[in-house]
Amino acid sequence: LSVNAKTLKHEEFMNVAHRGASGYAPEHTFFAYDKGHYEIGADYIEVDLQMTKDGHLIALHDEKLDRTTNGTGLVKDHTLAEIKQLDAGSWFNEKYPEYANEAYVGAQVPTLDEVISRYGKNANYYIETKSPDVYPGMEEALLAVLDQHGLLKEGRLKQGHVLVQSFSNESLLKMHQLNSDVPLVQLTSKGFMSSATEATLRQIKTYADGFGPSFQDLTKENTALLKSIGFEIHPYTVNKEEDMRRLNDYGVDGVFTNYPDVYERISNEK
Ligand code: G3P
Ligand code: CA
Repeated sequence: LSVNAKTLKHEEFMNVAHRGASGYAPEHTFFAYDKGHYEIGADYIEVDLQMTKDGHLIALHDEKLDRTTNGTGLVKDHTLAEIKQLDAGSWFNEKYPEYANEAYVGAQVPTLDEVISRYGKNANYYIETKSPDVYPGMEEALLAVLDQHGLLKEGRLKQGHVLVQSFSNESLLKMHQLNSDVPLVQLTSKGFMSSATEATLRQIKTYADGFGPSFQDLTKENTALLKSIGFEIHPYTVNKEEDMRRLNDYGVDGVFTNYPDVYERISNEK
């Protein structure tokens, strides 16, 4: 992959391992990230952020612990030490017996710091600020972790090693205010495109380099409009081959997928 952020221009389809290669291993564990990054060679590791009671950023999709760990309740009511005791792997074995692996039992919830320590400066991270209204200070905490790892150096940002995405335009605007060099991607919920005006899309382009719609929102026509405005387009979450082919034909720049091996194959078909 060759990326020229801050405009995110790249030369091939961008393959984002959604929550890691989460079709094959428990999402947001090192097992899913290892599979996406080392085994499949996806371009980006996607990391959803939540923040613990004691202010640590962790990789977890939900505000609650219940679905993907053996804990219960809100992340914000638990310390990192408490969350580190939890098993984030067994649920996957129960839900997806065809991909179950004994090794997943007892998998820990990683912190963002641990993720970047493991995969290093040269991996690419596509980081989502989740529920920023629930976690005041999340953007500052994210920048602090990136800074500790040397990822905020201008050259590195320009190489596109870190992209920050959010459904919250407030969170993206805050990131933009704190560090205008970080490439930003505006996520939008399913149905957004049916009511979005060109003026709205152009307003988003004032701070966001990329646009991440629900893949079901995209048509050939609105993809062309988004391209003409200058967005890089990364729809989520594209898991079926026929959808991958169709979206690539529309001209998207990459996708979030739970099956990055499949997208790799589809993107190399022509
Ligand atoms: O970040 C793109 C996609 O992951 C958005 O949906 O709910 O899987 O975070 P979600
Ligand atoms: Ca996400």
